[in-house]
Amino acid sequence: MGKVSATCSFEQPFSTDTPLSPVIELVSVVKRFGAVQALESLSLAVKKGEIYGLLGPNGAGKSTTINLICGLLKPTSGSITVAGFDILKNAIRAKGSIGVVPQELALYTELNSRQNLKFFGRLYGLGGSFLEARINDLLAMVHLDGRDTAPVGTLSGGMQRRLNIAAALLHRPAVVLMDEPTVGLDPQNRANILDIVEAIAADGAAVLYSTHYMDEVEQICHRIGIIDHGKLLVEGSLDELRSQAGGKEILTLRGTFQTTSAAEAFELRQGESVVKCSAEEIVLNLIGAEGRLPSLLAAAARAGEVREVSMNRQTLESLFIQLTGRELRE
Ligand SMILES: Nc1ncnc2c1ncn2[C@@H]1O[C@H](COP(=O)(O)OP(=O)(O)O)[C@@H](O)[C@H]1O
Ligand SMILES: [Mg+2]
Repeated sequence: MGKVSATCSFEQPFSTDTPLSPVIELVSVVKRFGAVQALESLSLAVKKGEIYGLLGPNGAGKSTTINLICGLLKPTSGSITVAGFDILKNAIRAKGSIGVVPQELALYTELNSRQNLKFFGRLYGLGGSFLEARINDLLAMVHLDGRDTAPVGTLSGGMQRRLNIAAALLHRPAVVLMDEPTVGLDPQNRANILDIVEAIAADGAAVLYSTHYMDEVEQICHRIGIIDHGKLLVEGSLDELRSQAGGKEILTLRGTFQTTSAAEAFELRQGESVVKCSAEEIVLNLIGAEGRLPSLLAAAARAGEVREVSMNRQTLESLFIQLTGRELRE
């Protein structure tokens, strides 16, 4: 791997020796909280200008990953480098290259937008006309110019989220970590934030974007990692993941079933699998199932009473369910 020497200086924002070297790199990262294994040997890399979507349900390990990268948590083992700096050996340089957008708002509600950004800018050691200009640029970027004098507490939820993002960008970080920044927002505000995330990456930052919304990763992420129980289950571009999901069908049977061994009852072929088998629902992952529908239904009838049948091509969402055994919204 090439050596990366990104800086967070203002003269050379986002600079790296080679544009394709990873700006965020995790190698075999393990994180335990006592008996809880939150991350199990997680490796991933994000390049300059790339939006990497970390997609996973609640408790998958998304926030733990982000908190480890920004130094809020210490890894149990493994290594993390940010802009070429090891987060343990060169913590100050590494942290200086990161902007974090936490899931919870971190703003002073009684101050206005401009005062908030000024406060955070000073924390980063910025000031004077440089900081003023940066604040103006950021307020425009997050569409808050003109609303900068109202106390933040009086702004809408969407506006507060956008300001929360601006606060992370004051020092032009090479790495932007965003932890579920759109949770609870209406579609228009979500779309607005997704546009901002794309602008941040287009400006050259490496963006790690955590979410449990499938449509968001489909819309903005260049690469996607599906995470659950602290493990990266699959990783690739949307096309790569889609082709992995493609050519397969999902057969869902609802009713009342006694079967405990659906694989045997349905005589599944190589590459096919039982996604779910409960007393109320059987979900099968099949290859070329159309012609076999009568025999599959006969097998289901032997296992119980079928009240509802549906067959769908596998999508990214069904791939997710197959990999994790869970719905995203759980
Ligand atoms: N400070 C902590 N102490 C103990 N367990 C934790 C702590 N933080 C997270 N966990 C556990 O680690 C796992 C991953 O959590 P988290 O990273 O918050 O998931 P996500 O952000 O994907 O919802 C969960 O099982 C969670 O309960
Ligand atoms: Mg979280």
